[in-house]
Amino acid sequence: MSEINTAAPAAQNGEAKPAKKKISLSFIQPSGAITLGNYLGALKNWVAIQDSGEFNCLYAVADLHALTVRQDPKNLRQQIYQGLAVLLAAGIDPEKSIVFQQSHVHQHAELAWILNCYTMFGELSRMTQFKDKSAKYADNINAGLFTYPALMAADILLYQTDYVPVGQDQKQHLEIARDIANRFNGIYGKTFTEPEPYITKAGARIMSLAEPTKKMSKSDPNKNAIITIMDTDAEIIKKFKRAVTDSGSEVRMGEGKDGINNLINIYSAVTGKSVEEIEREFEGKGYGDFKMACGEVVADTVRPIREKVTDYMNNKDYIDEVCKKGAFMASRFAQRTLEKTYKKVGLVLPKAD
Ligand code: TYM
Repeated sequence: MSEINTAAPAAQNGEAKPAKKKISLSFIQPSGAITLGNYLGALKNWVAIQDSGEFNCLYAVADLHALTVRQDPKNLRQQIYQGLAVLLAAGIDPEKSIVFQQSHVHQHAELAWILNCYTMFGELSRMTQFKDKSAKYADNINAGLFTYPALMAADILLYQTDYVPVGQDQKQHLEIARDIANRFNGIYGKTFTEPEPYITKAGARIMSLAEPTKKMSKSDPNKNAIITIMDTDAEIIKKFKRAVTDSGSEVRMGEGKDGINNLINIYSAVTGKSVEEIEREFEGKGYGDFKMACGEVVADTVRPIREKVTDYMNNKDYIDEVCKKGAFMASRFAQRTLEKTYKKVGLVLPKAD
């Protein structure tokens, strides 16, 4: 991926070549306000990976994926901008990472078609997200919802991605992307890199504050169940104070204590402290004190991001500029993989003039 390889310049006169950087890629759907779950499970790690300087990074807003659920067009436009603004506000730096909108790189939809032809009905039927979403949107079980993982596989495989930083809920989609790559490579010879998920322990699965056995989700209609990046300090503190916990009082992880386990996880993911350290810190204190402390550390984390999102939303021209440059760089690489794939399956490429 020469155009974004920021490694030292290639050595000359027989010196060893510098190692090529690995590729890290991940996307987020603009299907609602971005939550604390998205931040702790994904975005925070995207920034850390970018800042390590060890990877070539691509991060995008998966606008095409969002269409698998009916969206209000005006709302969707706003959410796409907001998704991009959150990426930038959270620390994704367009000088270091390629930032773009999925639909601006037409190769995603094109490779998805090819991969659809190498993805089995049975394996798509086993996807838990498909089962969950078809139960939730029973009046709109469309083909896109079903073939969603083939588009996601295209997102990943187009760039020969090595690592995909995601939350736990995307693990099954990563597995199918690997299976598709493996199947295709088995038939035609090495075409795609088989991607690995990158999932951190603490933020991997942030649960709803109202129903802690359920994942915190952008599309949850109960606004008390989710913390969004746009929530004010007062809203965040209030939601943590109201968070559902069991009837105990000891701040300690335990079986059946889903609410408190979730809060300990959140506190750990935000502060970087281990579970043991947290349990020691809150020994002798009750749930009330701990909920307040959680609210405060989360508010301190969210506040600077929220403030920057507002600045970016007032400067959409800048977001457009970032996306234009990002799509240009992404599509140059994507085109190479697409052409390689077309040739492997036997399609005849248009002749150059
Ligand atoms: P999406 O938009 O649902 O979520 C974006 C990222 O946030 C993570 N996440 C969570 N992590 C911890 N706790 C939670 N409660 C939580 N909720 C969401 C998700 O795991 C994800 O990493 N299919 C993807 C978007 C996508 C994609 C891709 C991802 C499209 N193409 C290519 C990676 C690579 C999705 O719907 O994420």
